[in-house]
Amino acid sequence: MNLKILLLPGDGIGTEVTAAAVEVLKAVGKKFGHTLDLSEGLLGGVAIHKTGTPFPKETEELCQKADATLMGAVGLPEFDAAPPSQRPEAGLLGMRRVLDVFANLRPVRTWPALVDSSPLKNHVVEGTDMIIVRELTGGLYYGQPRGIDNDRAFNTMSYTRKEVERVTHTAFKLAGNRRKKVTSVDKSNVLEVSQFWRKVVIEVAKQYPNIQLEHMLVDNAAMQMVLNPRQFDVMLTENTFGDILSDVGGILAGSIGMLPSASLGEKKGLYEPVHGSAPDIAGQNKANPLGAIGSVAAMLEYTFGLMKEANAVNNAIGKVLESGRVTADLRPKGKPATTQEVGKAVSEAL
Ligand code: IPM
Ligand code: MN
Repeated sequence: MNLKILLLPGDGIGTEVTAAAVEVLKAVGKKFGHTLDLSEGLLGGVAIHKTGTPFPKETEELCQKADATLMGAVGLPEFDAAPPSQRPEAGLLGMRRVLDVFANLRPVRTWPALVDSSPLKNHVVEGTDMIIVRELTGGLYYGQPRGIDNDRAFNTMSYTRKEVERVTHTAFKLAGNRRKKVTSVDKSNVLEVSQFWRKVVIEVAKQYPNIQLEHMLVDNAAMQMVLNPRQFDVMLTENTFGDILSDVGGILAGSIGMLPSASLGEKKGLYEPVHGSAPDIAGQNKANPLGAIGSVAAMLEYTFGLMKEANAVNNAIGKVLESGRVTADLRPKGKPATTQEVGKAVSEAL
């Protein structure tokens, strides 16, 4: 099979983790006899520097031509004071919207080799295996009107029926292949948009009689994730809540650097590790590339339907974790491995 993939390394550690992920992709191509057709584009701060805009037209065209896009990270401290529309992050948000990747799948699992890496007690994190389905192209991130002046600023959290329905279908279909439970997270004791969300989720759920549905308020969900994460199978939630809760997932997984994600719509797939650009460790060959490498596995599964290959990558990640050759964020007993070493180790374990 020919895999036509666009790489958008972006900013900070994005370039390093993407390079490691590409090494693994190449190893997969070699082992399983697939050809790679890789292109590279600009997104985020690097795109602002080179073209004046975080999501240039050329990048958009490249995304449309590729079967799948692998993003590294976006964000640079020099833009901290810039308005949202002129920040690197606006590039990623623009791309998600253009590709209409409304469902962001963020699996959170505790690998057996990593129970000691989490600051939480072993008996709490052991056996965690959940997936957050984060609505990605609506809600507070995109709602209009929005604005800021001297004495007031405002954003809008808004959802249409169609937006809630489609991501709910994604969550229920996923649950059907897992432990058959969906926890829909909202703030319906305060927000109209959450009451609407809950109502639409209940309606859609009627089409999936074999899936258990429960509702949880977002504040409680944050607490339950660190209290008893094994209770969750699929967690469905709106854009902002999903952003926040998935970082809590990083604690369960041992490090946010472990978390991969798949952003899916009707047509295109965008694959992005959950972590940010981590300017504090950028350029030091220290970043954990396993979130990016896990995102490659997700790409093989969801865009290309290559289950055998996806499983091979995930198994290789497991082997490397067991070998202890991991980056500093995972608190290894011995000397931490570099980003490159981890990429190489996963490729070899394949
Ligand atoms: C994420 C990130 C992004 C988001 C930022 C970089 C815009 O935090 O993917 O979780 O908020 O969606
Ligand atoms: Mn985030």
